Amino acid sequence: MCALVDSWLQGLKRAPLLCSQRLLLRPICVGDVSHIQENVNDKRVSNNLSYTPHPYTMEMAETWTRNVDKGMAYGNCCYWTICDRKTNNFVGSMGLSLYREQENCELHYWISADEWNKGYCTEASKRTIVHVFEDLNMHRAHVTHRENNTPSQKVIEKCGFIFEGISRESLKRFGNFENVMMYGLLRNEYLALKAKGIY
Ligand SMILES: CC(C)(COP(=O)(O)OP(=O)(O)OC[C@H]1O[C@@H](n2cnc3c(N)ncnc32)[C@H](O)[C@@H]1OP(=O)(O)O)[C@@H](O)C(=O)NCCC(=O)NCCS
Repeated sequence: MCALVDSWLQGLKRAPLLCSQRLLLRPICVGDVSHIQENVNDKRVSNNLSYTPHPYTMEMAETWTRNVDKGMAYGNCCYWTICDRKTNNFVGSMGLSLYREQENCELHYWISADEWNKGYCTEASKRTIVHVFEDLNMHRAHVTHRENNTPSQKVIEKCGFIFEGISRESLKRFGNFENVMMYGLLRNEYLALKAKGIY
């Protein structure tokens, strides 16, 4: 019965294809699960994620993917695989938690460590933000990073998010309480950035 419900949910909603200059954001497929497991199990990536356990097993990756399918079916989230447009190589993961009644959403991302510092996350995040305001008609997007995650901070700043404050020691990660830095972008701020050519 559960398997039937699962497959019905999976067929219900897919992430839309989003293209940028070098990247394609596409729905997650079965073949991505091993890439997800390998990358989230990579300490260089997982050290800066907020909730994923370590080690991260294939079973965890499969469960996560099934939960994403369910979340998408219910309209609570939307997740993409980021890949290279030309080679179709796996680059990373992009996601949105959707709070539709509040017209608000939260951005989540990671990039395979071998692909860092090529501007991929900034490019994929900007494309997703265009989708947030132009297609989903959201009023606001927000994003957070752990205090010491400078690469993520840079991505967030390059996307034009406004720093809103520190949620003090709100994240318990590997036994330590950590500060979380919070940022938001409102629709009118996005439109101003678009008018300046940043979007
Ligand atoms: C954060 C992350 C997604 C960035 O991906 P990316 O594709 O490398 O990002 P970009 O190339 O678009 O931008 C990275 C920026 O950080 C800068 N940067 C990278 N390492 C840095 C460091 N140690 N100190 C300072 N800046 C650094 C880069 O120079 C670049 O900024 P610039 O364009 O101004 O030069 C990637 O590092 C990652 O997956 N980290 C682990 C998971 C994670 O942190 N996810 C986000 C949770 S909030």
